[in-house]
Amino acid sequence: MFDTLKRDIDAVMARDPAAHSRAEVFFCYPGFIAVRRHRRAHRAYLKGHFLLARWINFRTYQKTGIDIHPGATLGEGVFIDHGTGVVIGETAVVGDYCTIYQGATLGGTGKDTGKRHPTLGRGVTVGAGSKVLGPINIGDHVKIGAGAIVLKDVPDLCTVVGNPGRIVRGPAVRPDIDLDHGDLPDPMLEKVEAIEGKLEQLEQFEQQEMEAAPHNCAACPVEDCPRRTEPETQKEEK
Ligand SMILES: CC(C)(COP(=O)(O)OP(=O)(O)OC[C@H]1O[C@@H](n2cnc3c(N)ncnc32)[C@H](O)[C@@H]1OP(=O)(O)O)[C@@H](O)C(=O)NCCC(=O)NCCS
Repeated sequence: MFDTLKRDIDAVMARDPAAHSRAEVFFCYPGFIAVRRHRRAHRAYLKGHFLLARWINFRTYQKTGIDIHPGATLGEGVFIDHGTGVVIGETAVVGDYCTIYQGATLGGTGKDTGKRHPTLGRGVTVGAGSKVLGPINIGDHVKIGAGAIVLKDVPDLCTVVGNPGRIVRGPAVRPDIDLDHGDLPDPMLEKVEAIEGKLEQLEQFEQQEMEAAPHNCAACPVEDCPRRTEPETQKEEK
């Protein structure tokens, strides 16, 4: 128990440059307090003392604004920074040394039953206000950007940003892409490029059709047409 306590405090000291002393972390860090209280609630939950577990969870929520369901599994050295608005669902699993910022949700989509919350690997960063939803797996050392909405599995070592979350860094990005030149995979951009390609093809096709079609310059109303040829009779008159 003291080992876990030490590791929880060390995790905060190592990751928050604003922490000046262990005492400060122990007494004044809502995220640390919420994690410690959750560990007690989780032990009660595992022993089947659901009301007690819920009561601890409820009081923690009142004190810190952090809502961790007693059934959620938290690894060691988990650091919840600031914390207000963090919600962690019943079947969520948070790996060792993860960092979770305020407003993050590890929740369900509402469509699943049983295991319905995410599983985070080791050392995952969950940015402020991000939502990680459903029984998905987030790999080790993944970074989830602030405000991202993640609904699909993410492999190890990737960075996910945006809504819907897309991978912008890491092994899942095609290796032939030079990430330093803003050439990041963007599904919307790819779709727009595909539409542009089709339009270009259509224009080429139309041009070819026009060129191939027999045309009657005498009957054509477009006077400044570059393809206009003078009618034979006019040529003869000249
Ligand atoms: C995503 C994050 C972890 C950075 O990860 P990283 O792997 O170092 O990624 P980079 O900073 O190189 O950014 C990669 C790309 O994603 C973009 N990006 C970064 N964070 C983003 C975010 N939250 N939303 C949208 N795009 C984001 C960057 O602009 C960059 O795009 P570019 O290559 O076109 O310039 C960080 O930006 C973040 O959001 N951290 C959350 C921290 C937090 O919540 N802090 C609250 C403290 S109170």
